Amino acid sequence: MTLIIKPDLEHDRPWRDVLQEMLPERTCRDWDAPGDLGEVEYAFVWNPPPGALRTFSNLKCIFSIGAGVDHLLKDPDLPEGVPIVRMVEPELTQGMTEYVTMHVLRFHREVPTLEAQQRDRVWNELIVPTAPSRRVGLLGFGVLAQDSARVLRALDFDLACWSRTPKQTDSVESFHGADGLDPFLTRTQILVCLLPLTEATKGILNRTLFAKLPRGASLINAGRGGHQVEPDILEALDTGQLAGAVLDVFRTEPLPADSPFWTHPKVTVTPHIASVTQQRSAAEQVAANIRRIEAGEAPHNTVDRALGY
Ligand code: GLV
Repeated sequence: MTLIIKPDLEHDRPWRDVLQEMLPERTCRDWDAPGDLGEVEYAFVWNPPPGALRTFSNLKCIFSIGAGVDHLLKDPDLPEGVPIVRMVEPELTQGMTEYVTMHVLRFHREVPTLEAQQRDRVWNELIVPTAPSRRVGLLGFGVLAQDSARVLRALDFDLACWSRTPKQTDSVESFHGADGLDPFLTRTQILVCLLPLTEATKGILNRTLFAKLPRGASLINAGRGGHQVEPDILEALDTGQLAGAVLDVFRTEPLPADSPFWTHPKVTVTPHIASVTQQRSAAEQVAANIRRIEAGEAPHNTVDRALGY
């Protein structure tokens, strides 16, 4: 009867209170006070200790607090046969669209160069093209990237996407699979990574990939640190193959104080906040999915464990 909760970030209100309001018929408990383990039917978690979810013998569903589920799937003792639901909620999507659009526009309008000019008191009238002449590429084309595409399209960027499997899209030039990656990269001046982290995408942001972008391309990674070969990013920035990088995620988080990214003049560091799950809309999604399961239906947004997302 219980929903157990293990968040990572403090929000305005305790998650337990928000979820309890949405699920009055259920007992919502914090991870450290689980009560009878056999009564735990649902888990709402970010990064539970490996093996811990297996101790709930009657678990019906695991809800990820985040859109990504790599942190859950790396648990070798994850209970089998229990569906995992990734977080899809409108405000998380909206937040990512804001982040992506802000940084695409920033690179497009060459704000880093203008900021450097200002620091040096240089009045140099930089002429930049308008959005239809700027080629933006979305690496990964799931729920988040599709919404970013909607807004970037409205701004008239020359947009393409790449995904593992073909995606139906009218407004975005679409590439897929191993064969589609090179032509996608060749045409991409601003690369936005919104891939899930899987065995297939680990380390994808590496020297070989950067070399296929046009010289002076920019990188925005709001996926996972595991996508990055970080020395290769530094090298590409230093050779000018990449003009700039916005990194929200890192191999090690928090980013260690001695990381060169903190002070690199061509890098913007943000602390894994590109978008954050919002409490009310997330709790609504969880409650709706629990109602579906209790009615004998499959939950929405389940993860394919074999694919890793
Ligand atoms: C954040 O990284 C998420 O997966 O939602």
